[in-house]
Amino acid sequence: MKILYAASEAVPFCKTGGLADVAGSLPAALAAQGAEVAVVLPLYQKVKEKFGDQLFFECYDYVDLAWRHSYCGLFSLEKDGVTWYFLDNEQYFGRPDLYGYMDDGERFGFFSRAVVRMLSHFKFWPEVIHCNDWQTALVPIYLKDDGVREDRFRSIRTVLSIHNIEYQGRYGKETLGDLFGLDHGWADDGTILMDGDVNLLKGAILCADAVNAVSPTYANELKMPYFAHRLDGIMRQCSYKLSGVLNGIDLNRYDPASDTLITANYSIADMGGKQTDKAALQRMAGLRQEPYVPIVGMVSRLVSHKGLDLVCEVLHDMMELPMQLVVLGKGDRKYEEFFQWAAQQYPGRMAVRLDYNEELSMAIYAGADLFLMPSRSEPCGLSQMIAMRYGTVPIVRETGGLKDTVRPYEAWRDAGNGFTFANYAGSDMLYVIREAVYLYKDYPDAFARLRRRAMESDFSWARSAGEYLHIYSTVTGQPWPPAAAEEPAPAEEGAPQAPAAEEEAPASEETPAGEAAPEEPAPVQEAVPAQEPAASAEPAAPVPEEAAPEKKPPAKRRPAAKKAAAKKPAARKSASKSGKKSPVKKETAPEKGTAGK
Ligand code: GLC
Repeated sequence: MKILYAASEAVPFCKTGGLADVAGSLPAALAAQGAEVAVVLPLYQKVKEKFGDQLFFECYDYVDLAWRHSYCGLFSLEKDGVTWYFLDNEQYFGRPDLYGYMDDGERFGFFSRAVVRMLSHFKFWPEVIHCNDWQTALVPIYLKDDGVREDRFRSIRTVLSIHNIEYQGRYGKETLGDLFGLDHGWADDGTILMDGDVNLLKGAILCADAVNAVSPTYANELKMPYFAHRLDGIMRQCSYKLSGVLNGIDLNRYDPASDTLITANYSIADMGGKQTDKAALQRMAGLRQEPYVPIVGMVSRLVSHKGLDLVCEVLHDMMELPMQLVVLGKGDRKYEEFFQWAAQQYPGRMAVRLDYNEELSMAIYAGADLFLMPSRSEPCGLSQMIAMRYGTVPIVRETGGLKDTVRPYEAWRDAGNGFTFANYAGSDMLYVIREAVYLYKDYPDAFARLRRRAMESDFSWARSAGEYLHIYSTVTGQPWPPAAAEEPAPAEEGAPQAPAAEEEAPASEETPAGEAAPEEPAPVQEAVPAQEPAASAEPAAPVPEEAAPEKKPPAKRRPAAKKAAAKKPAARKSASKSGKKSPVKKETAPEKGTAGK
């Protein structure tokens, strides 16, 4: 199976949020299970600076976006069995930040256009392009648009992952033709139009062959107005192709036994180091050296959907408990000011750093005892998983991926791997914080068992990758694992997963757009309990034949790619000429395009 993963950020190259963690780990996990995987990213200035000398110049071409005709360079790098492609255009991506420019629509319009137009220069013609969020939402749309004229694009299936539906790529209606180069038909039939604006995410949800939310609960929530930022009707309409695959975390990167960023290493078998990390955190943050007082940690963007209003509301009640609080993050000014002010009220007991700093964040994951994440909405959330891996017991609100990863503590049968509360209310949050703090203080043995269950939770990517491969198999009609090689790839833990129930949402769930949300929507996919052993799953069943789309003989693809190559002798020549490792700057062709607005 040939998968192209298109994203606007990925670690270790560039990161602003959780998407980068996912795009940085999922492709390698797919490759480890036997898929052929390439990733495509913009070549940002930061990537050039940090990784320029590792990039291999492949070729360049010109990409048309409406009336613009712009240079696009193609660079590559091989890593963990995955080919990483970088699309270069100095004018769009040679800037200090990833996002936040007034022409972001044009920048990612260009990127999505370039992903489609540069396909023939990639090492394989993909069977599936997996897009992520609004920045690559135009890819499924362009594939449909180009597919009308060019057969070769019709063989490609698309999957769209929604990491946060709040960001939709909304632009004025006039951008449809002038900026994105699309015919007015796309607006006339409503596909790409929403509330009078061009809405790229909406268009992609409708055009993609499968849509995925990053947790089973988020997939359900997206059908409700409270969570969907006006796209609930579209999500209900598309629930037949909606799934919710929980993200994983990179278990090698986040391993308290080998992490070099933390003061002392430890593991389930030997927890000694955690106490050292606690002392180190107290020192670093200027908290009192009190080994028996639990530290509640928060590492979060300081924005409202992270549930900070609840913390502001009951902060003084929290600080009456025998606990310390440490907060790391930056964001909205009102929260920054509040936390800074509050920290001054509780010297030695509360510390705040308005920053994002990886070392300090790891010091909190390792040194804190409890991790607070009271999000109002949380598509998946990675921090709670990292915290659990480091034996820092999470306290979360039951929403999105938080609900799917944290099972509430039940004292009477000694079960659960964290603390949860359901209502978005300060008093409810305070109640469970109190419960957690006193469990830590008064019942250290019970707390140690709870901590152990948190550390044992399975958040490996292998499980999620198996579920994605099942989705790819469903949209392409190709069996997975491939019929010839029935056995799973030996390198990975756990077999490919049992067919997830995700796509098979009952037809009755298909609610026409605009209708009220069902009160209690049926689960899109059964939440995968965090500890369910991957090995118990059966291999994905082959998709029945009638579901298979028309198969294109591979021969058809080659000439297309060749034709494109033949059309651009200069580009191909420059590629073959430069068949050696070469620093980016030297090889980048001068930008000739008129890419401006
Ligand atoms: C977004 C979401 C977060 C999720 C991440 C990766 O950042 O807000 O909940 O974990 O994407 O999918």
